[in-house]
Amino acid sequence: MEVFNSPQQFLRHFSGKSYSIGMVPTMGALHEGHLSLIEKALIENDKVLVTIFVNPTQFDNNIDLKNYPNKLEEDIYKISQFGKNISVFIPNENDIYGDKIISKQYDLGNLDRVMEGKIRKGHFQGVATVLEYFFKTFLPSKAYFGEKDYQQLLIVNHLSKSLNISTKIIGCPIVRTTDGLAMSSRNILLNSEERRIAPKVYEGLKLAKKLASTEKYKKVKIEVRNFFKNLSLIRLEYFTATDPFTLVEFNPNEKIKYGRGFIAASLGKIRLIDNINMS
Ligand code: PAF
Repeated sequence: MEVFNSPQQFLRHFSGKSYSIGMVPTMGALHEGHLSLIEKALIENDKVLVTIFVNPTQFDNNIDLKNYPNKLEEDIYKISQFGKNISVFIPNENDIYGDKIISKQYDLGNLDRVMEGKIRKGHFQGVATVLEYFFKTFLPSKAYFGEKDYQQLLIVNHLSKSLNISTKIIGCPIVRTTDGLAMSSRNILLNSEERRIAPKVYEGLKLAKKLASTEKYKKVKIEVRNFFKNLSLIRLEYFTATDPFTLVEFNPNEKIKYGRGFIAASLGKIRLIDNINMS
């Protein structure tokens, strides 16, 4: 395993070699979800590049940025366990942004106008800015993203097409703990009571899926809201069911066919998001 701190170091190391590179972009605090992306990338490519960069422009709030878990030493150890075909890129803000830490502005095809995009203003412009930099600097053959951030996955697909980037975007299934909670770096910020109740997010999604087989969307929505109303500590921010490609919400009187269901909920200061294939 090599660790690179500057893009020049990486490019020098790989110059003149025609390896296929699989990229796994992360913000660190690696969990089993990340490790599953790395495993897949190692199978499908000659070399894997994991990036660890807590990207400031995708945070809409400074406290969230400050509290974002930093586990660099553990992360490097975990990555080193994958052997020799793997490198880590740990840039600093200057490498990516120069002296102006601001996002570029992209047309993300309205995919950024709903759900997380509505709540976390500018979030996806920040994600797009850093990913455009990674894609254009390292020219990976494939890049791996978890379906837990399903909206992000669709946006990255849209971005790579609109910028004519040849990197193939690979979506990978959500990895869950045994009690159903979707793996996320933020989970370690939950206190023990919050952690105990956190799997209710996935239970809410499973309830929605079950109801959707017989009920119209409006009834599903009411029942999911009621499910969360009866729980303490956890607050439902939204439940929505949409077309899985356009993220256009179903009509209240429709039955959900071939849809994706999404939940965002807050537990104390921590927001959790999760989603499910409703068909
Ligand atoms: O999903 C993430 O961890 C981040 O949004 C990403 C893709 C690494 C961009 O900073």
